[in-house]
Amino acid sequence: MLDAPDEQGKLATVRIQVDPRGPADTLEEELGEAARVLRQGGTVAFPTETVYGLGGNALDRRAVARIFVAKGRPQDNPLIVHIAEMEALETIASSVSPEARRLADRFWPGPLTLILPKSDIIPNEVTAGLESVAVRMPSHPVACALIRAAGVPVAAPSANMSGRPSPTAADHVWRDMAGRIDVLVDGGLTDIGVESTVLDMTCRPPVILRPGGVALEAIRELIPETRILTGADDVDATPRSPGLRHKHYSPSSELWLVVGEWESQVREIEKRAQAEARRGRRVGLLVSAETAAELRALLALESDVPENKSLKRNIVAAEVGSRGNLSEVASALFDGMRRLDEANVGIIFAESYDTAGVGLAIMNRLTMAAGGRVVRV
Ligand code: TXA
Ligand code: MG
Repeated sequence: MLDAPDEQGKLATVRIQVDPRGPADTLEEELGEAARVLRQGGTVAFPTETVYGLGGNALDRRAVARIFVAKGRPQDNPLIVHIAEMEALETIASSVSPEARRLADRFWPGPLTLILPKSDIIPNEVTAGLESVAVRMPSHPVACALIRAAGVPVAAPSANMSGRPSPTAADHVWRDMAGRIDVLVDGGLTDIGVESTVLDMTCRPPVILRPGGVALEAIRELIPETRILTGADDVDATPRSPGLRHKHYSPSSELWLVVGEWESQVREIEKRAQAEARRGRRVGLLVSAETAAELRALLALESDVPENKSLKRNIVAAEVGSRGNLSEVASALFDGMRRLDEANVGIIFAESYDTAGVGLAIMNRLTMAAGGRVVRV
């Protein structure tokens, strides 16, 4: 199945569909070909509980190099190694502290990535030359079955083109990666929708480099001193960890993040959207169901008043679920960004959320997508 690229360097990407709810042994069987491609050094995109990943054999430097090429990813941004059994941890990390072990026992399989000292079997290409390695055990049945069937640890960044929002649906991956990878395993929508929490265990106390699917509060229940990297929870700071140096999670159009009390946010978004749309600009709204409802009334988008025609035509809303349910917002966020891009909007206004629980990851992604364009009301 591992086909050679054509004259233009394009691969014939094979898309296979599996049902994540099927029995584990059936899944492993269905994923046999994809697993073989991984073992042979190919690239396979697959769903995890957070976002889709683009996998390659973590022990094969040529496979790892292919991941970087497919994504257009800068070489200095290290990858996460995915495992399916606890025993694999010992072979990937040169030492595992009792604290790291407790975190793994509590949160694996699940959306927590641990940064640990790297063992010699992990090529420098995976870790971008660092002495540490990122490891996680995903909980998604398709990810687990694929890694098991492959029988090797799987290095996998998110399966988007570098700089694009992470993919939460197989179609997102297809749009970014068709012709650039060997296989896409379509296992439906991912569950959490934002990436794993990246926790650096090589320092004391541990530091969260990227907030994600496991909440800061949950980690602090085990290790109360856990710190968070400056910038990862602050809309004003410039991100500083390895991956966060690079432009990330952005839709192509400029995104403005509106911060403040909710009612004031709604009024500000209304005012700015109206002004931009009246000037003939296409405006995207990345908003909760509650905000969308308010704005529909305020902007009279549902009325047939002729003077609202241009407003109606120029304003596109991507709803991302209820403000009262941040898990909903997390799972719809990246799809919302992609939908607005496809609607060819020139400017996006996004509302902000509480930073409790998964809200911290949501605000981190929105802040990075805004790249400093923050409106305080
Ligand atoms: O949920 C996820 O984490 C998804 C799924 C596919 O597992 N993966 C993902 O990978 O988001 P990626 O490559 O998009 O993000 C990995 C992050 C980057 O910010 C990278 O810089 C950081 O982890 N990272 C990887 N290895 C590291 C290391 N040794 N030290 C510090 N940061 C590291
Ligand atoms: Mg990524």
